[in-house]
Amino acid sequence: MESSEGSRQEEEKPWRVLEFYSGIGGMKYSLMRGAVNATVVEAFDINDVANDVYEHNFGHRPYQGNIQTLSAADLDRYDADAWLLSPPCQPYTRQGLQKGSSDARAFSFLKILELIPQISRPPLILFVENVVGFEISDTHTKMLEILSENHFVTQEFILSPLQFGVPYSRPRYFCLAKRKPLSFQNPQFNNELLWAPGPLLGSDGCMVISEGEQSHGCCDKLLQACQPIKEFLELKNFRDEDLDSCIANVSETSDEVEEGNRSVSCPLNQFFVPSSLVERWGSAMGILFRPCYMFQIFFFFKQLYHSSSLKAL
Ligand SMILES: C[S@@+](CC[C@H](N)C(=O)[O-])C[C@H]1O[C@@H](n2cnc3c(N)ncnc32)[C@H](O)[C@@H]1O
Repeated sequence: MESSEGSRQEEEKPWRVLEFYSGIGGMKYSLMRGAVNATVVEAFDINDVANDVYEHNFGHRPYQGNIQTLSAADLDRYDADAWLLSPPCQPYTRQGLQKGSSDARAFSFLKILELIPQISRPPLILFVENVVGFEISDTHTKMLEILSENHFVTQEFILSPLQFGVPYSRPRYFCLAKRKPLSFQNPQFNNELLWAPGPLLGSDGCMVISEGEQSHGCCDKLLQACQPIKEFLELKNFRDEDLDSCIANVSETSDEVEEGNRSVSCPLNQFFVPSSLVERWGSAMGILFRPCYMFQIFFFFKQLYHSSSLKAL
């Protein structure tokens, strides 16, 4: 797969990226949305249905097989700069048995990390995504050990779309790792787990309030900073002007919404998700259109890309 993403035209060569556990391609999509000058040289997933969707979305079918069976020689062939990894979350999720590394679904992740010292040119950048709970697992401890032994510095975050103005509570764990001599802009946050994006944004405004603090006042403040949910729902036949016409239209199936000082009507049957479902489950489900779902991730890619020049290496 040799397609280049991102509109940013740089003198430097595009990153060569491997997308492990590619699923339906959220990481690749985020690279594109983050306008990162990168090429996903291969994606890997064992699930044929996920691979069907990925192929439909991006015109390339990921390598279909168990990541656990890849060798250092296999990986050498891709000569990759960056690895993106979103391994299975079942071993760590708070709703599960939390067996961590002793859960068979965790094996492939540690196996792939253990290959790093055997690769002729190991990756310079790693990005790992998982559920909250991963950060207290033995897999996490082992991951940090392997990264440190292989000269990576790390910064870790637990972030939710709520902290970026998106009305969706979905805290997730993220780890950025850079191999020396690459470094982070704010090295004082190395080896720390942060619950706010502030250190990356360089601001201390409302977006940097930690959802982890969980106080009512804090959550209220985050919610007040969010756009209304209707701004994020995907329309059945989406065109840019649809949201405007939605507000202008009056329909029998419409609900009243506040628009500044005036009340306007919005035909909720234009959305893919029925209004009854939005009202009942809106905060718990992944009903927002994809750019929101992956918002944290493409934010990270933007940050990584702008702070990591491969030119000098
Ligand atoms: C948490 S999901 C990744 C979601 C992905 N980031 C996306 O945007 O859809 C984990 C994925 O890993 C795949 N997977 C799990 N174990 C695997 C293994 N040993 N080898 C290859 N793929 C695996 C699953 O099929 C699943 O699609």
